[in-house]
Amino acid sequence: MHAVALTALKGGVGKTSTAVNLAALSALAGHRTLVWDIDPQAGATACLGVKPKLRGGAQRLLGSDRDLTGSIRRSSVEGLDVLPGDYSLREADVIVSGSRRPRRTFRRVLAAVGKDYDVVLIDCPPGIGASTEVLVKAVDLLLIPVVPAPLDLRALDRFAEVIVDLGAPPELLAPFLSQVDRRKPLHRKLVEEVRTTRHFLAAAIPLSSAVERMPLEQVPTVVAAPRSLASVALRDLWAEVSERLGLD
Ligand SMILES: Nc1ncnc2c1ncn2[C@@H]1O[C@H](COP(=O)(O)OP(=O)(O)O)[C@@H](O)[C@H]1O
Ligand SMILES: [Mg+2]
Repeated sequence: MHAVALTALKGGVGKTSTAVNLAALSALAGHRTLVWDIDPQAGATACLGVKPKLRGGAQRLLGSDRDLTGSIRRSSVEGLDVLPGDYSLREADVIVSGSRRPRRTFRRVLAAVGKDYDVVLIDCPPGIGASTEVLVKAVDLLLIPVVPAPLDLRALDRFAEVIVDLGAPPELLAPFLSQVDRRKPLHRKLVEEVRTTRHFLAAAIPLSSAVERMPLEQVPTVVAAPRSLASVALRDLWAEVSERLGLD
């Protein structure tokens, strides 16, 4: 099983939208795929048409060894399931910090779902809390959406520093451009700059009304609007992620 987390210091940058779409592409490629929503806002859960209700709440999820099959829901996409998020996850950092073995909390869940899924995409809340600290040690890739703006690039540098200080290898971090608006000269300039000076994935997700509509339609963009420019870019991104993970 391969675990990929969508994470960033900032909110509103495209973590949830990308997690849902990459998960759909993974399922369409024939991999048994799970979206694990650990954001109390439960946006990924809602985008996949699943009720934001986690059986037993965050305490039961992170605090005990147990079978998770009763908590997992089917989505409308064949082969794509959801471990839903709900508001109880606002306690996740407290649960992890209070645990005698914090690193086991997330690892235990991943171990429990590992036998049933080939790919798990974890949709994280913004920021770096106790959960992020243990999660970076438990996943194979950290995908970080970055909007091409000076403060967002600064936030990425800060985030990367913290992650590497936590003991993660720099190769774990995979930033990519998100919400790119080619009408904006500054976006065009920063896209070029990023390409030449930084280790970003090559795919860049454009600003797109097809992506924006997803929470209303509750169908992944790559399924609802497969020919949109955003879907083309999302498929490019998935190809790079698959390659990094060594999926066929
Ligand atoms: N490529 C995009 N084009 C247009 N709107 C987008 C795009 N990516 C995300 N959005 C919109 O921006 C907002 C934040 O996106 P979201 O994926 O929830 O970010 P995050 O999970 O990082 O907070 C949502 O309203 C979403 O629909
Ligand atoms: Mg989100």
